Amino acid sequence: MRVLITGSNGQLGSEIKELYTKYDNIECIFKDLPELDIYDADSVNSLISDEHINAVINCAAYTSVDKAEENVEIAERVNSIGVYNLVEALDKINGKLIHISTDYVFDGNNLQPYKESDPTCPISVYGKTKRAGELAVINGKIDAVVIRTSWLYSTFGDNFVKSMLKLGNEKQSLNVISDQVGTPTYARNLAKVCLEILSSSNKENINKNGKIYHYSNEGIASWYDFAVLIMEIGGLDCKVNPIQTKDYPTLAKRPRYSVLNKKKIKADFKIEIPNWEESLKECIIKLKQ
Ligand SMILES: NC(=O)c1ccc[n+]([C@@H]2O[C@H](COP(=O)([O-])OP(=O)(O)OC[C@H]3O[C@@H](n4cnc5c(N)ncnc54)[C@H](OP(=O)(O)O)[C@@H]3O)[C@@H](O)[C@H]2O)c1
Repeated sequence: MRVLITGSNGQLGSEIKELYTKYDNIECIFKDLPELDIYDADSVNSLISDEHINAVINCAAYTSVDKAEENVEIAERVNSIGVYNLVEALDKINGKLIHISTDYVFDGNNLQPYKESDPTCPISVYGKTKRAGELAVINGKIDAVVIRTSWLYSTFGDNFVKSMLKLGNEKQSLNVISDQVGTPTYARNLAKVCLEILSSSNKENINKNGKIYHYSNEGIASWYDFAVLIMEIGGLDCKVNPIQTKDYPTLAKRPRYSVLNKKKIKADFKIEIPNWEESLKECIIKLKQ
């Protein structure tokens, strides 16, 4: 299987680059801006045809949640129209798609982990554009899996873990929000899941029970809990103070609660999910090497 990885220089794409050679039946072709802009339908069609692609893992996205509030059109181009372009191109060749979405399609008012069937109600431009991308996949005729994930971090790119480690080295204390709850997810764990879904033993199950799936690491944390453990594992003497969302205004609203229920992905694709604390430790150890 020849798999195109779009947005391949981001966190998830970079993790896939490190892991894909472990999968015998999967050959990956990595593309990012400026070589491949998924908003450009002609480029997407030509590349899929020229490179004899059978499947796409779409890691391309506009992920700046606050900036999206002002750059609505750019966010729509990547997160909504770009996804539609991939679906249309794959339809022509009977190809498969793994598309990544977000916990930010929910409003955060649930009191228990969100199931795939729960109604969406995005409260930010980013969330709305990502939901439109999901709908492009759901309404398309191709075999596809949409994986909603949350709070991604990696040894690659900019993310909360790397920011906290940097600040922890520079400051004696810092304030972190404690009233937003979700689950941090190591992009390396998600990369493995994407590749496993396309692997020979699993690919027949794509589309079996609907296209949407939830995946994050196991467990629940606030951004404060996350920061405290980053300092502890990083061996940093920086005091983390819990603060409320109202005391840290941002352009975009974020869900108060966005824990995902992962029963469906575990059952359909027979995967085991590591706990967030265990995965965080693995990432920080790798960062220190
Ligand atoms: N990061 C999170 O906390 C988080 C949480 C939940 C879900 N997700 C979802 O998980 C997926 C992977 O996220 P990530 O953190 O790996 O994202 P990322 O690090 O921001 O990587 C996205 C990549 O896509 C590229 N890109 C942007 N516009 C493009 C376009 N028009 N055509 C092709 N490539 C384009 C970016 O290039 P530039 O850097 O040059 O723009 C970047 O290399 C995304 O779908 C995201 O929405 C992320």
